[in-house]
Amino acid sequence: MAGIVIVGLQWGDEGKGKITDYFASQADCVVRYQGGNNAGHTIVIGEKKYKLHLIPSGVLQNKKVVIGNGVVVDPAVLLKEIEMLRQHNIEPDLMVSDRANVIMPFHRMLDGAEETLLGSKKVGTTKRGIGPCYSDKIARRGIRMHDLLNEEEFREKMERIMPIKQRILEVYGLEKIDEEKLIEEYLAYGKELGKYIGDTIYFLNSIIDEKEVLFEGAQGTLLDIDYGTYPFVTSSNPVTGGICTGAGISPKKIKRIIGVAKAYVTRVGMGPMPTEEKGKIGDFLAEKGGEIGTTTGRRRRCGWIDLVALKYACMINGVDEIALTKLDVLDGLEEIKVCIAYEYEGKEITNFPSSIKILEKCKPVYDTLPGWDGVKGKKKYDELPLNARKYVEYISDWLKTSIGVISTGPAREDTIKMES
Ligand code: GDP
Ligand code: IMO
Ligand code: MG
Repeated sequence: MAGIVIVGLQWGDEGKGKITDYFASQADCVVRYQGGNNAGHTIVIGEKKYKLHLIPSGVLQNKKVVIGNGVVVDPAVLLKEIEMLRQHNIEPDLMVSDRANVIMPFHRMLDGAEETLLGSKKVGTTKRGIGPCYSDKIARRGIRMHDLLNEEEFREKMERIMPIKQRILEVYGLEKIDEEKLIEEYLAYGKELGKYIGDTIYFLNSIIDEKEVLFEGAQGTLLDIDYGTYPFVTSSNPVTGGICTGAGISPKKIKRIIGVAKAYVTRVGMGPMPTEEKGKIGDFLAEKGGEIGTTTGRRRRCGWIDLVALKYACMINGVDEIALTKLDVLDGLEEIKVCIAYEYEGKEITNFPSSIKILEKCKPVYDTLPGWDGVKGKKKYDELPLNARKYVEYISDWLKTSIGVISTGPAREDTIKMES
């Protein structure tokens, strides 16, 4: 059959978890291909609210779930998540790539220390050790999941990297690590997780032609290490291209790309966000949208939808259709703004700048549309207020991309599937 992608088009938290859960009902297998437990995907099913950080959201539809080689895995967090699911009577049918890099305590320590040193110029990371872990992967001194399964090999690898790590911790003024304790701790994780660890690349390639495989992005295009607002980004490639390297799948196998976008924008952490609203509108969106980070509990910065950035994200990902989420949050506003260009040094631009120095100086150029009330909980497109439909059609026309799904509330059933 095919590979289907669910990819975030903004700065993360677009509602990928909810949309993945929605499409997972038709899928056989759901795969994470990048990021780590910096992600926080909230899924509401009936009275229950699940917060997933590492395990693909398809687990809640009892599907096979895979953590690909491009993900960085904190074993303690993974074990906690498995336990959380068990408490809800869900036994995950999980496979974790033997090549996935492992987040070690020194990664978390260095993430925090670097942020402290950067002071007011910090990235605003989740402090989960994501950046330092990916840095070690690229610098060829990472620990991979299969290393935790063989004591001799693991000890050998640790012997190679620990002198460097201890020295760096010293330079940062951090406490030295008890190496033996650390080795014992991680070998114990290996024992507990051993039954899940395997070669996900052969597995995924063995099923992708016959089964429907869903790839669940974490973070979003504007947080991508290459395409985002660098350096205020994460350390992986959330974009569609990340699937090929993060799951070992050929681009030829990807048949459908669903981009997830909120009906407005949010961002956690630092970095430019041209349409940010710091006043009443920002407060309205944050409160009504419950815009508190799933992972770190930080309030998300909020603003109007940015079509310049969205068009850029659709282009990079090759989006076939958009899943537009949280349309209900705009209920009750008199008018709604849509950013259609940036003004930079007296000129209008419609390309998303690569330099954040330029982006910081960009002022949004808005079109203003009339507001509405009554989107919340609607299940059919023709039940939506006329102005809400006009808003959806405006976005779709401007982006020249169809909108396949509209989400009108956090619950599974608050979802409109558009007729194609
Ligand atoms: P993700 O990281 O992209 O999966 O998104 P998060 O789960 O971090 O943030 C999205 C939040 O919005 C979650 O709390 C969801 O339950 C919630 N949500 C998703 N879709 C909708 C929607 O259409 N309307 C409302 N009001 N909330 C939604
Ligand atoms: P989901 O999958 C929103 C942000 C952090 C910070 C930057 C770098 O839930 O959409 P990192 O810890 O990755 O080195 O932090 O990226 N960030 C997210 N923002 N949603 C996420 O994931 C995020 N994951 C990382 O706030 O600005
Ligand atoms: Mg999130």
